[in-house]
Amino acid sequence: MKQVKIASIGSYVPPKIMTNDDLSKLVDTNDEWITTRTGIKERRISEGENTSDLGAKAAIKALEKASLTPEEIDLIVVATSSPDALSPSTAVYIQSKIGAFNAACFDISAACSGFIYALNVAAQFIKTGQSKKALVVGAEVLSKVTDWTDRNTCVLFGDGAGAAVLMPSEEKGIASIFNGADGRKTEFLTLGCVPVKNPLVKPEKLEDFKISMDGREVFRFASGIILEAIDKVLKDTGYSLDDVKYIVPHQANYRIIEFAAKKLGAANDKFYVNLQNYGNTSAASIPIALDEMVEKGLLQKGDKIILVAFGAGFTWSVALVEWSF
Ligand code: UT7
Repeated sequence: MKQVKIASIGSYVPPKIMTNDDLSKLVDTNDEWITTRTGIKERRISEGENTSDLGAKAAIKALEKASLTPEEIDLIVVATSSPDALSPSTAVYIQSKIGAFNAACFDISAACSGFIYALNVAAQFIKTGQSKKALVVGAEVLSKVTDWTDRNTCVLFGDGAGAAVLMPSEEKGIASIFNGADGRKTEFLTLGCVPVKNPLVKPEKLEDFKISMDGREVFRFASGIILEAIDKVLKDTGYSLDDVKYIVPHQANYRIIEFAAKKLGAANDKFYVNLQNYGNTSAASIPIALDEMVEKGLLQKGDKIILVAFGAGFTWSVALVEWSF
């Protein structure tokens, strides 16, 4: 079996910034509540670009950084909860926009855990030799499925995309990776339901495609699973937390991150946090954070980092990565 590395990272967020004060003009909220309860100060909101547009821009940046042409990519896996269409996949729209016509394409639906799920799937393609150069994209335009009248949710989310090129490697690269789910908790975080509707069945209620969430239940799940997941990759690799330079968590709420740091006995700044600038961008949050860390020079070849995410389903995912560039 081959080993797999992240060869490059790229990201793109739409230029339009929506601040907490802007939101207070839409719903009954204020900067103080949003900042103290979540850590979020502002988020990017699409002014028309769809999920594949953001994903394609992030993908082009990742390809440039890996010095690859789009034709060299043989697989595109997109993690998203806000696809351009139910079918075809957002991956094929991205393929078409970047001209990667030699790539097999499909999407993964694992909510905020999606990027690490997609990394795992693409890594398996590479390990078996099915893929030589894969593009993994996390992209979301959550603003199109946000209920802009619900202050419980509309203050949390933002739009954005990140992409990674995966390649076979002589070094460890993705040293350990796991995905999980608990389907008993589906109702606590959903984005629209598709009831059976045909000449034989008339559903009582046709739901709109909007995010609906029980924030406290998600918070409870996230605070527990983040610790279990980190423990799992540490045990699997035999590394200790001291060996790990950064933990890059899904960017949902600063209080969840603070809680995890305290429980682990780690300094808060061991966790990379940029949710103050982007809010929760679901499947895009981890690759956007990674790209920012690379740009800031925080990651060097050989650094060990943990990526960890949780989200609707409930789902969770975790990876320990030995940085490759
Ligand atoms: O990617 C995974 C996605 N989701 C998450 O990670 C979310 C995890 N959960 C959370 O981040 C937090 O539960 C929230 C930030 C969503 C909410 O924070 P909380 O401390 O759990 O607040 P709460 O839901 O218990 O609400 C407290 C109060 C309520 O008022 P009452 O009933 O105490 O009078 C809410 O109505 O805050 C009120 N509230 C707001 N007030 C001002 C809720 N949203 C707002 C708001 N502005 N935007």
